[in-house]
Amino acid sequence: MADQNHVTPSEAEIAVHWGEEEYYHPSPEFIAQANLADRKAYERFSLEHFPECFKEYADLLDWDRYWETTLDTSNPPFWKWFVGGRLNAAHNCVDRHLPRHRNKTAIHFVPEPEDEPIQHVTYQELYLRVNEFAALLRDFAGVEAGDRVTIHMPMVAELPIAMLACARLGAIHSVVFGGFSGKAAAERMVDSGSRVLVTMDAYYRNGKLLDHKEKADVTVAEAAKEGLTVDKVLVWQRHPGRTSSPTPLVEGRDVLVNDLLKEYRHRTVEPVSMPAEDPLFLMYTSGSTGKPKGAQHSIGGYLSYVAGTTKYYQDLHPEDVYWCMADIGWITGHSYIVYGPLALGASTVVYEGVPTYPDAGRPWRIAEELGVNIFHTSPTAIRGLRKAGPEEPGKYHYHFKHMTTVGEPIEPDVWRWYYHVVGKGEAVIVDTWWQTETGGFLCSTAPALHAMKPGSAGPGVLGVYPVVFDENGNEIPAGSGRAGYLCIRNPWPGQFQTIWGDPDRYVRTYFARFNKDPGSQDWRDWPYMAGDGAMQAEDGYIRILGRIDDVINVAGHRLGTKEIENAALSVPEVAEAAVVAARDELKGTVPDLYVSLHPGYEAGDGLVKRISEAVVKEISPIARPRSIHIVPDMPKTRSGKIMRRILAAISNGSDDVGDVTTLANPEVVETIRAMAQGAR
Ligand code: WT7
Repeated sequence: MADQNHVTPSEAEIAVHWGEEEYYHPSPEFIAQANLADRKAYERFSLEHFPECFKEYADLLDWDRYWETTLDTSNPPFWKWFVGGRLNAAHNCVDRHLPRHRNKTAIHFVPEPEDEPIQHVTYQELYLRVNEFAALLRDFAGVEAGDRVTIHMPMVAELPIAMLACARLGAIHSVVFGGFSGKAAAERMVDSGSRVLVTMDAYYRNGKLLDHKEKADVTVAEAAKEGLTVDKVLVWQRHPGRTSSPTPLVEGRDVLVNDLLKEYRHRTVEPVSMPAEDPLFLMYTSGSTGKPKGAQHSIGGYLSYVAGTTKYYQDLHPEDVYWCMADIGWITGHSYIVYGPLALGASTVVYEGVPTYPDAGRPWRIAEELGVNIFHTSPTAIRGLRKAGPEEPGKYHYHFKHMTTVGEPIEPDVWRWYYHVVGKGEAVIVDTWWQTETGGFLCSTAPALHAMKPGSAGPGVLGVYPVVFDENGNEIPAGSGRAGYLCIRNPWPGQFQTIWGDPDRYVRTYFARFNKDPGSQDWRDWPYMAGDGAMQAEDGYIRILGRIDDVINVAGHRLGTKEIENAALSVPEVAEAAVVAARDELKGTVPDLYVSLHPGYEAGDGLVKRISEAVVKEISPIARPRSIHIVPDMPKTRSGKIMRRILAAISNGSDDVGDVTTLANPEVVETIRAMAQGAR
């Protein structure tokens, strides 16, 4: 890496421009207290020391039994980390902190209604509650080590409690984002063969108490259609002792957790000592087919990796108050709300509601009230907060030392507002690039060591070596100005282990493209292909250009275009459907949907509305198309492939749709353009 990133205190807080490049530097105060302040760490984690360097991360944990083999590569690309080791994740996130931190807040739960008091769950209380729920899961619901438990819950303290209770038993949790539909949860339950559903009756969002229990009924009914019987539905109450959902309980299947827990008061459950390589959880994510894939993460490798990256890249110290304003239903929340911070014995904030409710000052009031000093969010949230309240942060007396942006590319202009206004020019920013599959950060600046560059994720993190390949698998040198496929040269402990139930898809999707020798047992022959396009600047920093597959990133939520298309196709009139990503000022990109109808049908009868509702029912409101265009025909190649590139150009208001001469029906392009662009 070029030396221009070298930070000296005299350069603090000064933006330096290197030609086109704009750099910002951490303050001397930040550097003086940082966990990762010595450049030599990168030498310790050089490829020469791989894989043993990751012992440093694993040593952040308590092991029941130390491992024998750091990395087993005998069955590529199914890497095994810390083989022979045994540990329990809940012990590591809860029990082991009791001697020193019993009275410290583990979780600050901030309800959306501002008049409802914040709950400060201490480590001691977390210990009791995790134990009680683990006892209930085991003795009432029959959950054992290795069983899958689906958790479809909003952002409440009971969500991490349920996850940790599973971990305590060695059971595998599969958390489904609370905003997903009952049907989407069913699909994930069926795929994972999960017979227990943990849910909550209701939750607050945008000032409304939403019924959530109704989704559980849909989930069970839809799962039954696919042959899966859900034995138990465990319903937490948003307001213990009273009913917040109009949806009745089903006798023999549904049970109110808060009532039943009274029978498990003060019950403790020994943490089950698990092999490091057993799964901790599944996290379903979208890919290029219509079927979400269950990314399987390990106990030992994953927990080590999130503990290490939280310590060094979130710069989390025991005395910090850390708020990651993501949803635990996504990987960011698993790694950087729950497992990373709790593994380190820190205090983590769980906020139930939307950032701009009741106004855009809410996050800053929470930060002030709790003394948050590390803040973590997405470009979409930053854009929304800037639009709704550009001056709000200045009205509150909070001080961040560190901020994170994650999930989508951030426009330099938005970055600057985050830095100057939210961070008040005092906080470092890390732009962390990673994925559901990767478990933790892969590219980021080290907050005290590297200069920040707006819009750029930075170099590979400790022990992670990114490379950009061209079509033919040749390395594109840094600084060449050419874009290519972003890959990682080496395995790392947080990497997912497989796709649940579909190991072939794991190999095909992530490793086959740039593997030169399928027989090789050398990890160097198996680069991981992330699915993003990227460019590496001269300074080694990676700029993410976006997905190269059929995945679209809506407000930081990852959605498969095929999933949205399949939902549209469930409406009987729809013959063909194509989703493209349209740029959006607030959400980064949004789905635009084009459909053609079966012969004999016409638009009308609320068709657009029915298609939109089908998408919400099958997936979630987050997948709802910005616009739905009913077109006479799709632009197609002679072989019948829909040319999405042309639709995307139209959706993005372009006058130039590129070459249409290869189309079977070039005349349709002008018609669609007139319809779509005229409509706005
Ligand atoms: C995709 C992964 C990372 C956890 C949350 C999302 C995009 C992620 C960045 C970033 C630009 C980013 C990529 C990636 N992405 N972080 N810092 N800058 N793009 O996890 O849902 O699995 O989505 O999000 O396209 O492939 P995910």
